[in-house]
Amino acid sequence: MREIKNLLVTGGCGFIGSNFVRYWLAQHPQSRVVVYDKLTYAGRKENLHDLWDTANVSLVVGDIGDQDLVRRTCQDEGIDLIVNFAAETHVDQSILGPLVFTDTNVRGTHVLLEVARELGIRLHHISTDEVYGHIRDNHQSVETDELAPRSPYAASKAAADQLVQAYAITYGIPVTITRGANNVGPYQYPEKAVPLFSTNAILGEPLPVYGDGLQMRDYAHVYDHCTGIEAVLLKGVIGEVYNVGTGREMTNLEMVDIVLDTLGKDHSLVKHVTDRPGHDRRYSMNVDKLRALGWEPKYDPKQAVAEAARWYVENRWWWEPIRSGEFREYYDRQYAERLAGTGAK
Ligand code: NAD
Ligand code: DAU
Repeated sequence: MREIKNLLVTGGCGFIGSNFVRYWLAQHPQSRVVVYDKLTYAGRKENLHDLWDTANVSLVVGDIGDQDLVRRTCQDEGIDLIVNFAAETHVDQSILGPLVFTDTNVRGTHVLLEVARELGIRLHHISTDEVYGHIRDNHQSVETDELAPRSPYAASKAAADQLVQAYAITYGIPVTITRGANNVGPYQYPEKAVPLFSTNAILGEPLPVYGDGLQMRDYAHVYDHCTGIEAVLLKGVIGEVYNVGTGREMTNLEMVDIVLDTLGKDHSLVKHVTDRPGHDRRYSMNVDKLRALGWEPKYDPKQAVAEAARWYVENRWWWEPIRSGEFREYYDRQYAERLAGTGAK
């Protein structure tokens, strides 16, 4: 088991990054975490509201593409591990405006690799099941499958994975990669399906389901993603890639049913709208390699979706200010015409 003292957690004010920081410090109170985050629309200081007064957490506001600032931060803080969550992460946003996805997800990761190489620091990179592309029935992606991304977001994540692996081969720097399934849980920005559907249902607004709603996703609880990353940080083989998910997927219509039933809302809120261009039909990963490290998911995807929906009922303080701000402009651009086509208001 490795000892890890000082972590730089990039993207630590986002959904998964903030859950990871909270989880890590609860399990490893002797370590220190420096959160490095650009605070984009998805990066929210309030995601770590309960931790900012803690002595072993600090925040540096910056871009992972700023090599001087990343290097200086690592040197000043004595960082021995970079965990890279920082990314542009929403597929629909990558269809509307793809270039920033290349800037952050590809060039930003490249800059982190340069700093890791220069200072001899380990880098753990957070990737996604989307790099495998959409996959045929009955197959489950394994870590050695070829990458076949199909959206600008997925392509930028696949490019980053390949840079990480190329740096390990060429320069011998210590890296690991985890590829996560669709996560759900606390503090997920409401552009993503489960928080969007939960908050819309709470407000009595229509739930815009893309196409036939039969696309399949492994809706994994963010807690299980955090424990999976921890297992790889402490016990994973350097240079290796590990899938993190439950290995069980459901259709989006099944996910919507769980959200509505959990919240006691009428299923007539569901509106089928024009599909996402290039919409991946199915993701599914084999997670045996991570299991071999002694890891097991705690949550079934059904429980994970239900628990996530309940969190939005109990935490309106968190999402109401988001939904009334710049999010509204994005929402109208993304959904107004689609929903008008269904007759919904
Ligand atoms: P998120 O969008 O909630 O958060 C992203 C964070 O990165 C934000 O805090 C944002 O401010 C920060 N950030 C963005 N650009 C930055 C930059 N240039 N420099 C520094 N910080 C920057 O994302 P998330 O859903 O928490 O995803 C975190 C990571 O996990 C991403 O790498 C994503 O690709 C991956 N992932 C996400 C999921 C999922 O279901 N959400 C699943 C698998 C993998
Ligand atoms: O699979 C891992 C990926 O999961 C992560 O790498 C991404 O960062 C994360 O955004 C997520 O990507 P998806 O595109 O799968 O997630 P999203 O929540 O956007 O959509 C989930 C499913 O729901 C997908 O099939 C599209 C559908 N959907 C989504 C939205 C926002 C709808 O039907 N209607 C919607 O309004």
